[in-house]
Amino acid sequence: MESQKLYTLPELDYRYDALVPFISEDLLRVHHTKHHTAYVEGANAILRKMDEAKIKLTDFDAKATFKDLSFQVGGHLLHSLFWKNLAPAGKGGGDLPTGNVAKIIQEEYGSVERFKKSSHRPQ
Ligand SMILES: [Fe+2]
Repeated sequence: MESQKLYTLPELDYRYDALVPFISEDLLRVHHTKHHTAYVEGANAILRKMDEAKIKLTDFDAKATFKDLSFQVGGHLLHSLFWKNLAPAGKGGGDLPTGNVAKIIQEEYGSVERFKKSSHRPQ
């Protein structure tokens, strides 16, 4: 019996070949099915090991375990964030920032063009 929720590999919102020519089908497939899967499975293996230790009342190296769990969950979260920041050509937000990012750029720089040219960082 598992007392903790386990991580799952998210589905992509697009096909593996949808980002060609910017990201090849093979590269996207490797990052999703190998890299991201390894982080999810790594995190879940640690959670299961912790569950087992709790049930059997055995000790484990908490510092090393949490460090490894942090690494695995970090890889999972960063890949998940990365997938949501990509979109096939013509299906994303376009070439220009929108929403709050557009508002802040307008307030701080006056225009996207000025923002791109500026080396100034707002305080
Ligand atoms: Fe990756």
